[in-house]
Order: sequence, then structure tokens, then C-alpha cells
Amino acid sequence: AASARYEAENTSAVCTGTIDSDWSGYSGSGFCNGTNAVGADLRFTVSAPAAGTATLSVRFANGTGGARAADIVVNGVRTASASFEATGAWDTWVTKTVTVPVRAGSNTVRLDPTSSAGLPNVDYVDA
Ligand code: GCU
Repeated sequence: AASARYEAENTSAVCTGTIDSDWSGYSGSGFCNGTNAVGADLRFTVSAPAAGTATLSVRFANGTGGARAADIVVNGVRTASASFEATGAWDTWVTKTVTVPVRAGSNTVRLDPTSSAGLPNVDYVDA
């Protein structure tokens, strides 16, 4: 199936933090700068054509010296975890993929940070 892009700044996404545009290289009109806290999540509603698995491609930047960890929560279930490594600068964006189970139709996907650093800056998710 064709993939769709879910931009963090779209009104269908929920960023626990601010939509910023002070670092370059993002797609669309900004990115989610999540609050630096455990549980300061970023939420998307991802549409799947059929039940099965979806590959999420998360575009992010992490200008700190250490990785930031998050759980991937789909429809309320902690189904995967991801380590968003340091990218060297806040305007250096990379893509990380994670495969998750989905049901047909709408799925709530949360990137849920598990350390007090919170999420990296997140530009979009392709799914
Ligand atoms: C800096 C940076 C932000 C980033 C933040 C963080 O303040 O400018 O874009 O979100 O660090 O540590 O999360």
C-alpha cells in the first residue's frame, strides 16, 4: 500500500511540548519539541489498510550527547521500544524504523519517552 506521512505539526497529531521551527531541515512547517520528561508523548492516528504489521519510519534529530529512549504504544499496548541515538546536531535529521502490529483502520500510535530527557525532536512518521 502507498505510505502516508504524518507530520508532527498537523492538527491530527498531538505533541506534548511545542511545535518549533528554530532548527533547519525539517519537513512541513515544524517539528515536535517534546517536553523533557517521562511520558511527554507524541501521538499520531495512523490508518492501516488491513490488520497486520506496519513499518513506522520516524524522522528525528537529537543534538545531545546521549540516546533518548521511548516505548512505541499502539492502541494502548506497549509493543516496541526505540532508542533515538544522538545525531550530532539538532539540525541533523535521521530516520529510524520500527515495525508494529496494527489493526485495519485507525490506530493510535504513541511515542512515549521513558527517561526524563523526553523525546528527541520529531519531524514526522511515515507509515
Ligand atoms: C534544545 C533544543 C531543542 C530541543 C531541546 C531538548 O533546547 O533547542 O530543540 O528540543 O534542546 O533537549 O530536547
